[in-house]
Amino acid sequence: MIRSVVRGFGAALPKRVMTNQELESVVDTTDEWIVQRTGIRQRYIASDDETTASLGEQAARAALANAGLTPDDIDLVLVATSTPDNTFPATAVNIQNRLGMTHGYAFDMQAVCTGFVYAVATADMHIRGGMAKRALVIGAETFSRILDWKDRTTCVLFGDGAGAIILEAQEGEGTIADRGVLTSHLRSDGAHKDKLYVDGGPSSTGTVGHLRMEGREVFKHAVGMITDVIEAAFTATGTTADDLDWLVPHQANRRIIDGSAKKLGIPTEKVVVTVDLHGNTSAASIPLALSVAASDGRIKKGDLVMLEAMGGGFTWGALLLRW
Ligand code: UT7
Repeated sequence: MIRSVVRGFGAALPKRVMTNQELESVVDTTDEWIVQRTGIRQRYIASDDETTASLGEQAARAALANAGLTPDDIDLVLVATSTPDNTFPATAVNIQNRLGMTHGYAFDMQAVCTGFVYAVATADMHIRGGMAKRALVIGAETFSRILDWKDRTTCVLFGDGAGAIILEAQEGEGTIADRGVLTSHLRSDGAHKDKLYVDGGPSSTGTVGHLRMEGREVFKHAVGMITDVIEAAFTATGTTADDLDWLVPHQANRRIIDGSAKKLGIPTEKVVVTVDLHGNTSAASIPLALSVAASDGRIKKGDLVMLEAMGGGFTWGALLLRW
């Protein structure tokens, strides 16, 4: 059977780092509070000349170089983002154009922090359905542009960045020993839509709006939703936490990551954590973390890797792949 195998990875971060100490002069907060409650120590903030599309393009070029491919080799560009350059056209076609591609097809996916998991699952369906041979899957965000910099309960949490992987159709045996995406589990429940949202939009206010979040409410649901969907991935593949080489979670909060891993019996050494460096970069957080751990040699070819995320909507999902 056809499997969607990771052929390359890449990442891009804005030039400017903003530390917790710097935030102490922006809102009434402390480095100690941010580190204790979230594990975040710094985040990257896009300058005026950096956008979701420019960061996504940079991550895409890094992934292409890593894979030894050129834009000519790609047929699908899929961008997970909630902070597009324009309402339309999709940031994906912007990036397609920046890469000099006039072939193939490109579109955006909007599932907030779960966007990258949704995008990889979607690209996998397109590849296994025979519509694309190679997909460039990008998670790119500039959340700094939708933050209310007067609201200390949200502005300390988020950052900007982009990450990308290239998925390629390869023949597999149909067993969990195959490389590639092995199973995907996506969920959403719009009953929670007012707990994490942006208070603007083209059809409602005609403005971009700002991010609003009932942090405690999101926190309350996070661990249960994450562990539930990871258990579903284990059940579907007949695997357990012991089989896993790496858990690469969405990077929102160290306490959520640790709580989920503990509940699943996944030791800390197997969990990739980058929230300290990047903050919460929404759909970019998983591909950024993958890129860090694959670059430093932790994630190796053949490793069993679980991706998971939960965020606005609520949306949540898990995806098991062999690297
Ligand atoms: O990626 C999408 C998913 N999003 C998330 O996963 C976020 C989920 N939520 C969280 O990570 C946590 O709920 C937060 C990090 C947002 C907050 O942590 P918490 O332990 O739930 O704190 P809290 O909201 O219960 O606030 C505790 C106190 C409050 O003061 P009082 O009411 O106890 O006097 C807040 O006003 O901390 C105060 N506080 C702050 N203090 C200093 C809130 N923000 C700050 C701040 N600096 N930046």
